[in-house]
Amino acid sequence: MESGKRKREKRGKNPKSASRKQTNKKKSISQQIQQKSSPVDDHLKSKRRKTSGGGGGGGGGDSTFLDKMRARLSGGHFRMINEKLYTCSGKEALNYFKEDPSLFNMYHTGYQEQMAHWPEQPVNIIIKWLNNRNPSLTVADFGCGDARLAKNVKNKVFSIDLVSNDPSVIACDMSNTPLDSSSVDVAVFCLSLMGTNFPSYLQEAHRVLNASGWLVIAEVKSRFDPNNGGADPNGFLKAVCNLGFTSVSKDFSNKMFLLFFFKKKEKQNSKKKEIEWPELKPCLYKRR
Ligand SMILES: C[S@@+](CC[C@H](N)C(=O)[O-])C[C@H]1O[C@@H](n2cnc3c(N)ncnc32)[C@H](O)[C@@H]1O
Repeated sequence: MESGKRKREKRGKNPKSASRKQTNKKKSISQQIQQKSSPVDDHLKSKRRKTSGGGGGGGGGDSTFLDKMRARLSGGHFRMINEKLYTCSGKEALNYFKEDPSLFNMYHTGYQEQMAHWPEQPVNIIIKWLNNRNPSLTVADFGCGDARLAKNVKNKVFSIDLVSNDPSVIACDMSNTPLDSSSVDVAVFCLSLMGTNFPSYLQEAHRVLNASGWLVIAEVKSRFDPNNGGADPNGFLKAVCNLGFTSVSKDFSNKMFLLFFFKKKEKQNSKKKEIEWPELKPCLYKRR
C-alpha cells in the first residue's frame, strides 16, 4: 500500500489546485454563471460593503439599485441561453438543459420579461384561433414553454418542450416526439423554430398530423427580413409547401411576428423533392 504522501506526489505538484479543478468541472452551468464575477457583481459587492459598514441611511434607494442590477444580470443570463438555443441543434439544446435543468427556468423568466414589452403575444392569437374551432381537435404544441396554450383551450393538447416542469409536458427534442403518426389535428409552433435543424421539427409535425391537419406557425418578424440577413418569407412558405402542406393564409401585419397557416395535403407526392430551406436568422434580444 502506498503512503498518502506518495500518492499525492504522483498526482501532481499541487494537489490542492488539482482538486479545485475537479470540483469546478463538477459545477453545473448555472453555478458557473452565478460564480462568474462580472463588473456588475463587483460593483454590487463593493456597494454592499459600503452600505453594511456605513451605519444606515439610503437603504430604500440601495434596494432599488440592487434590484435593477439583479434584473440586468438575469437579463444577461437570458440572452446567453437564448443565443445558445438559436445557434445549436435541438439535440444539443436537449443535452444543455439535461445537464442543468435550472437554466430552463432562467430562460423562461427572461423570456416572459421580454414578452411583456410586446403589444400582443402570438400565443394569445393562436389560443383565440383554437377557441373558434371545434374543441374536439387534438393539438400538439411544439416548444410549449409554460404550456399556456394547453391551459387556455378546451382541446386535448400534447405539450412538448425540452424540459418538463409540469407532468402534462412531454420532455423531448421535438424533432423526435413519442406521438403516433397521423394522430393530431393541429400542430403549433409558437416562436419555437429555434434550433439550426428547424426543418426536422416541421418534418416531425408532418408525420404526426392527420391528412388535412393544420400547421400553425408564429415566428419573430426579424428572422424573416431579407434586407437584414433574415430569410425570405416566401422562400420559407415554399419550402413548407414542398414538405407536403398547402398554404391557407398568412398574416404579416403584426410588428413583432409573422403568422402562417397551412394544411397537410391529403395526397402526398410519392416523389420526395430536395427541399431548399432558407436559414432563419437567430433572434437575439437587445439589452434594455
Ligand atoms: C420562445 S419559447 C416560446 C414558448 C411558447 N411557445 C410561447 O409562445 O410562449 C420557445 C420554446 O421552444 C422550446 N424548444 C426549442 N427547441 C426545442 C426542441 N428542439 N424541442 C423541444 N422544445 C424546443 C424552448 O425550450 C422554449 O420553451
